[in-house]
Amino acid sequence: MKNRIADANLAEEGGKSYHWAYEHMPALTRTITKLADQKPLKGLTAAVCLHITKETSVLAMGLKTLGADVYLAAANPLSTQDDIAAYLASQGVHVFAWRGQNSQEYQECIRDILRSQPDIIMDDGADTHVTIHEEAEFKNLKAIGGTEETTTGIIRLKALEKSGKMRYPIIGVNNAYTKHLFDNRYGTGQSTIDGILRATSLLLAGKKIVVCGYGWVGKGIAMRARGMGGLVTVTEIDPFRAIEARMDGYEVIPIAEAAKIGDIFVTATGQYHIIRGEHLSVMNDGAILANAGHFNVEIDVDALEKLKKKKTTPRRNVDEYLLKNGKKIYLVGEGRIANLVAAEGHPPEVMSLSFSNQLLSAVYLSQHKGKLEKRVNNVPIEIDRQVAINALEAMGIQIDTPTEEQVKYGESWIV
Ligand SMILES: NC(=O)c1ccc[n+]([C@@H]2O[C@H](COP(=O)([O-])OP(=O)(O)OC[C@H]3O[C@@H](n4cnc5c(N)ncnc54)[C@H](O)[C@@H]3O)[C@@H](O)[C@H]2O)c1
Repeated sequence: MKNRIADANLAEEGGKSYHWAYEHMPALTRTITKLADQKPLKGLTAAVCLHITKETSVLAMGLKTLGADVYLAAANPLSTQDDIAAYLASQGVHVFAWRGQNSQEYQECIRDILRSQPDIIMDDGADTHVTIHEEAEFKNLKAIGGTEETTTGIIRLKALEKSGKMRYPIIGVNNAYTKHLFDNRYGTGQSTIDGILRATSLLLAGKKIVVCGYGWVGKGIAMRARGMGGLVTVTEIDPFRAIEARMDGYEVIPIAEAAKIGDIFVTATGQYHIIRGEHLSVMNDGAILANAGHFNVEIDVDALEKLKKKKTTPRRNVDEYLLKNGKKIYLVGEGRIANLVAAEGHPPEVMSLSFSNQLLSAVYLSQHKGKLEKRVNNVPIEIDRQVAINALEAMGIQIDTPTEEQVKYGESWIV
């Protein structure tokens, strides 16, 4: 099958970014080097649907080094870095992605990678797994198993598992400690702020920043927004997380109240229509909206369209909506995942951990063919732990080992 990319001439530029990421992902690259001679994925085909960034290029090349034939599509129509897609295509990865796909093209590229009859399916958001389970064309596809990168994907796959229709085992990479505690929090925290700044180039200090959802992603964004001098308010529906946000020092109020006071709004819930028409109508003139959740459903963009008098694009990745009430609202990246649309996604150091889990989970699936249950399995704790050890080693950090006495004390019920 022929590659479908924007421009093959961008390969050299993409190669530079690949090498930059490679240099800064030691936990992953050392794992690849250790397994390179064994080629544990030899003879297998991997269909990979991830955001096509420089960090993903290191994973894709790593899968190839371990012996897999790799087919790659994008996990979002706007997140592909075209130079990276071109570089990977020049290195023998089969790439079906470009930035700015429409919904049909996005879905067609997912079908393209599945036509390779993959043994292993890596996904981010579960669109690929859902396509396999929904579309007649793929009803005979026999995969060894799959992985899933993000919270939203895990929620969808748990629902599939509950329906009793899951056809192969899936490893929920997001559930690994070395994924959600770092990628979702520190990765999204930094890169979402990066996306908002690259898109708007405005000052964060002194701005009222409303973070919707105080999960791992929301915590990271709130922490970094405060670090830049923002006055952060959190909205939540979960009482535990609401208390946590309050004790972390943020104001916690309902979205109906927050809508009236915020300068910048960032959604991070994975849920539907968090910011709706009734909120948009009461916002301050010049309010900025950005989404960090996986799908573009958290900000009701249709409601914004209905309320508008005029829409313009003053900057790349920023749409200005002049509302009928005379106020302006700015939307970053069409309400799609702002850190990938308006910036470059997570920094390499953090993806080094997440993608170590992806790579080792793929190897684990291949070594446990037919032995795992057809459900969302956790990343085995020994893999998770090894990723943490590799990351510490890469950072040059040593930690203590418990003494024999401490081990005994920890295992005893008598003091
Ligand atoms: N941008 C990225 O690169 C990136 C990275 C990781 C995860 N994600 C995505 O970000 C989203 C959140 O992920 P997470 O790991 O933080 O999930 P999480 O489950 O830890 O947190 C979500 C939080 O949102 C809250 N919430 C749900 N509905 C709400 C509502 N109506 N109002 C306010 N709060 C509400 C929940 O109570 C929860 O605390 C998911 O879609 C996930 O896939 C994006």
